[in-house]
Amino acid sequence: MDKIEQYKQLTSQIRSLIEGETDAVAVMSNVAAAIHQTMGFWWTGFYRVAGEELVLGPFQGPVACMHIPFGKGVCGTAWKRAATVVVPDVEQFPGHIACSSESKSEIVVPVFGGDNTVVAVLDIDSRELNTFDETDRQCLEEICKMIIV
Ligand code: SME
Repeated sequence: MDKIEQYKQLTSQIRSLIEGETDAVAVMSNVAAAIHQTMGFWWTGFYRVAGEELVLGPFQGPVACMHIPFGKGVCGTAWKRAATVVVPDVEQFPGHIACSSESKSEIVVPVFGGDNTVVAVLDIDSRELNTFDETDRQCLEEICKMIIV
């Protein structure tokens, strides 16, 4: 199965999985698990906006850093820009926060609240370089739009 087909199935699985659920932590927990299991990424999880920083939320994978300031690292940059950030090689991203030396490439997608501000970010790490492309960006943005916080 190619990546587009995998994402199609994943997106419809997530749509029915979270339908009617209003608890943000429950939704983020199952979204992280579904993405992680289907796509086989190294680390898949959410950081939630709490004041001036991001705080670790539901995730799948090894333990990770718990607090990320606004504008710092890939996650804080995606929050500040309110836009997806794709990093083909984390060593080339100034200020990248290395929670694990295994992580080689990364994508961070913002989750928007009702007032269109960023309320969380979805962070996915890969152990290989150049993992994330336009397909990942589009499909993960579609998934993040389904999350109502
Ligand atoms: N690398 C991220 C930090 C979070 S971990 O990858 C799970 C960053 O630079 O924001």
